[in-house]
Amino acid sequence: MPKLVLDQVSIRYDGQPRPAVERVSLSIANGEFVVLVGRSGCGKTSLLNVAAGFLSPADGKAAVDGEPIVRPGADRAVVFQNDALFPWLTARENVAFALRLRGVAPAQRSRRADDLLSLVKLQGSGDKRVWELSGGMRQRVGLARALAAEPKFLLLDEPLGALDALTRERMQTTLLDIWAASRAGVLMVTHGIEEALVLATRIVVLAPHPGHVVGVFEPTFGRRYLAGEPIRNIKADPAFAAARGDLTDAIFQGEPA
Ligand SMILES: Nc1ncnc2c1ncn2[C@@H]1O[C@H](COP(=O)(O)OP(=O)(O)O)[C@@H](O)[C@H]1O
Ligand SMILES: [Mg+2]
Repeated sequence: MPKLVLDQVSIRYDGQPRPAVERVSLSIANGEFVVLVGRSGCGKTSLLNVAAGFLSPADGKAAVDGEPIVRPGADRAVVFQNDALFPWLTARENVAFALRLRGVAPAQRSRRADDLLSLVKLQGSGDKRVWELSGGMRQRVGLARALAAEPKFLLLDEPLGALDALTRERMQTTLLDIWAASRAGVLMVTHGIEEALVLATRIVVLAPHPGHVVGVFEPTFGRRYLAGEPIRNIKADPAFAAARGDLTDAIFQGEPA
């Protein structure tokens, strides 16, 4: 079972007196949805960049199945908040482009692209140009494109951060459906407390100066959604409100009032 591990990772940036992140350990197995939360500057993006292979840790180890992560790889697909699609191409062509990079034969690209677009609930929008798509739809195309590589891991840095509240809520369940269908391990950064609770199988709470882990939660709300319970019911459950309170406390503990 594929496993991405960060072991006692510290991150330093040139010219900075202190490390940005100090001795953080994380592991993401296939079928897990790990969410990083914490105040701005606590190192969430830096850690994701180490997992992606964009950034090398100053100390500690980053590995997939025991193989050190030294560069980006097709086993780890990354989606950012404002991911650039090719605006002059259609949704289908954007996804097909990623399939081409993967060496999928031309005859199969278009059908495979349509399969991926229906996985992100964009069936029927394949012919739309990027400029014709709403923000939420663009983000779905970005996810479909990331899934084209059949990654073992999806690395998402605030992928829903630029969306309006309603679209964002809808995208949360889409993400759960994608995760369940793709069986990839997910590492996602978010500012959204409810979002973290809805999506995660594990939430890792970080605090800054330097970034370090201050708490871990293992919510079960996403699994309830996937088992068929309506998301509205889950969010109305007193257990959800309690978890929200606990997570908020963990994020803001030690913060000057
Ligand atoms: N390229 C960089 N050069 C110098 N310092 C950086 C750089 N990127 C991030 N940092 C610093 O590292 C810390 C963690 O940043 P970041 O990983 O972006 O946190 P987060 O995503 O949680 O907001 C911050 O103090 C930030 O200022
Ligand atoms: Mg960030």
